[in-house]
Amino acid sequence: MAGLAPNARSRRIEESATLAITAKAAAMKQRGADVVSLGAGEPDFPTPPPIARAGVRAIEQGRTRYTAAPGVPELRAAGADWLRATFGLDHGKDEVMVCAGAKAALHMALDAVVEPGDRVLILAPYWVSYPALVTMADGEPVIVPPVPERGFVHDAAAVRDAARRHGARGLILNYPNNPSGAVPERHELQAIVDVARDLDLWLLSDEIYGTLLYDGATHVSPAVLPGGRERTMVVSGFTKSHTMTGWRTSFLAAPRAVIDACCRIQSQVLGNPCTISQEAMLEACRTPLPEDQATRMRAFGERRRFLCDALAGIRGLSLRPPRGAFYALVDARELCAARGIDDVQVAEQLLERHQLAVVPGSAFAIPGFVRLSYAASMDDLRKAVDRLRAFAEAR
Ligand SMILES: Cc1ncc(COP(=O)(O)O)c(C=O)c1O
Repeated sequence: MAGLAPNARSRRIEESATLAITAKAAAMKQRGADVVSLGAGEPDFPTPPPIARAGVRAIEQGRTRYTAAPGVPELRAAGADWLRATFGLDHGKDEVMVCAGAKAALHMALDAVVEPGDRVLILAPYWVSYPALVTMADGEPVIVPPVPERGFVHDAAAVRDAARRHGARGLILNYPNNPSGAVPERHELQAIVDVARDLDLWLLSDEIYGTLLYDGATHVSPAVLPGGRERTMVVSGFTKSHTMTGWRTSFLAAPRAVIDACCRIQSQVLGNPCTISQEAMLEACRTPLPEDQATRMRAFGERRRFLCDALAGIRGLSLRPPRGAFYALVDARELCAARGIDDVQVAEQLLERHQLAVVPGSAFAIPGFVRLSYAASMDDLRKAVDRLRAFAEAR
């Protein structure tokens, strides 16, 4: 049928590389292979029971109908309180919208501010969906090359140069970073906010890992820094910290005019975020569960330490300890050079020959690296390290 065909924009959208690897690993598992999958960024803990029970209660008590497009008013207010208590944000309830996952919040935000053809800076390594989300908003993604030698935190001068050179209108930030685990110091982030203020850029700050920190690292939102609040859209929530991956919930916080625009868009494309999930999210905001959080962070901390120590002993690979999130971005450039292969081939060979699924750095615009998720059991991580070692030592 000649009349029905995907348009040019949708043809430019690639499938998420992480989901593709995870699907391939799952298919191999189904065929009986003993695959260790460190591809996806999904914690292996359950959703905390009090939060899950709030969702069950909503169903049992019949709260299963439409809600207001930006979320129920109690949740918007609870979200504003949670964002204030957790990150020091100063947004009223009308400046917070509930969305169906961080991905949807990023999409609404970009749809609300990007004009056709606007250039949007994305700092590499970046989470795989940003370029596609910018493209879908009719913007043009501009990738700023990675700076592994600076611990993956860009120098503000390089950001200024790139913004000037490309005439950028906006900049996407993601700290703690997926895939590098980078967390900038306050002054480093302030320098980037200063660039945004000088060049009148908007900022989209993806802070979905904002509470997952190690070694005394502190998360600072650009929205709390001088010059930040009025130009920043913050995306955050419980997806990663509370394993609410399947509930599809998030918050978007921004100045009122942008939130109002996002509400209008959400009302047309989604209607409202899932009513049942909103009840669970309200419980997550109101009941902090510090013991559950401490248990998770202890487990992530132990896994992170294990990987850092183990990788230090494998020739051709190295790892700079991540300061946040739950990913290890392993530098395989030496191994790639010695073998004459690239990171995509490393990932392919690891999966096909050693049944270990990792994501090639090229997917995040950092070739020569591979990303391992340590949101996985210690058993899986031990197996993964044995397989990495076998791969590195194989001739
Ligand atoms: C940096 C980053 N932002 C957003 C998301 C998407 O989160 P959600 O599942 O809430 O849409 C992910 C998921 O991996 C992520 O790593």
